[in-house]
Amino acid sequence: SAADKGGWSSFMLKEITEEPDAVGDTLRERIHEGDVVVPELEELGDDFLRDIDRITIVAAGTASYAGQVSTYAIESWARVPVDVQLAHEFRYRDPIITPTTLVVSISQSGETMDTLMAVKHARELGARTISICNTQGATIPRESDAAIYTHAGPEVAVASTKAFVAQITALYLLGLHLARVKDTLPAGERRAMVAELQAVPAKIGFALGVHDRITQLAHWMADTRSVLFLGRHVGYPIALEGALKLKELAYIHAEGFAAGELKHGPIALIEPGVPVFVIVPSPRHSEEMHRKVISNIQEIRARGARVIAVAEQADAAVLPFADEVIPLPLAGKFFEPLIAVVPLQIFAMELAAAKGLDVDQPRNLAKSVTVE
Ligand code: G6P
Repeated sequence: SAADKGGWSSFMLKEITEEPDAVGDTLRERIHEGDVVVPELEELGDDFLRDIDRITIVAAGTASYAGQVSTYAIESWARVPVDVQLAHEFRYRDPIITPTTLVVSISQSGETMDTLMAVKHARELGARTISICNTQGATIPRESDAAIYTHAGPEVAVASTKAFVAQITALYLLGLHLARVKDTLPAGERRAMVAELQAVPAKIGFALGVHDRITQLAHWMADTRSVLFLGRHVGYPIALEGALKLKELAYIHAEGFAAGELKHGPIALIEPGVPVFVIVPSPRHSEEMHRKVISNIQEIRARGARVIAVAEQADAAVLPFADEVIPLPLAGKFFEPLIAVVPLQIFAMELAAAKGLDVDQPRNLAKSVTVE
């Protein structure tokens, strides 16, 4: 059955390995002749989709970081403001909902009580709701106006991995579908984005190939007490996700920061030997952002931090400044996070394994939190 580990040492390893298929299967049936058509969205009617002037995403945990990643692309493609609210905060902040607000929930299980209550609250306030969910027939999609299912297959390990990349994929399909209906992105650019999406599975496959190198790194770092993660733009939520994975699995203090925030506080945490993962955006997308992140690396390196850069393989500028470079294939600027998250997931899993911990069932956590 799908809930069988097969020959794998853990469900988590099996599920990380399934990430190319999680993306590929989520794209299937939603791309026609090089353009995005999500049948599930057509149920909401093009008039409504055209009029949407605000998107609020509600989610918890890893799903909320998938939401944060997607805000950059959806705003850029569909020209609609998108904000992400933690589901358990949403209800108590008197949210602004109008007839042209779309509320998008993201939940792997479709049973997270905090997220379900946020969706119900949104509906009471008159919002139209879409559920992005990995579990057919779960409560949240049933309580929503429409559902875009992710096709990652059953996820058994408590820490979410393949569902995360499938969620970003579904959100990007939503963004491109809206861009088509609203006519906010020229057809040629939409097609280029579709081609980028279709190239993601093979690029994740490449990232899976750096596993041994990351295992070695994790073994060296088995006694580490604290790890920091820095990222900018779409790399920022990936820094947050990398830190969450490490907390969940290896019980190590970990924090993710926006790289630009470094000098506004976090740099005070840098002391000799502290490992810092830096997600480096490719210079081919923005030389300016790249330069700023390289200068962050220099600042923390000068204070003795141990820098592990997650960077595009052809990015030679990073080599002199980082202690370790994890090379990734070039991907479009919005697509980098789908690739860059993979080594961070592997790192958390291997560090937990190096400490002799159960990577599928971390202490105190539940796969699906069905209480508020
Ligand atoms: C729990 C899990 C997390 C997950 C979160 C949201 O806290 O331990 O891994 O990200 O719930 O779950 P959902 O099923 O709503 O995506």
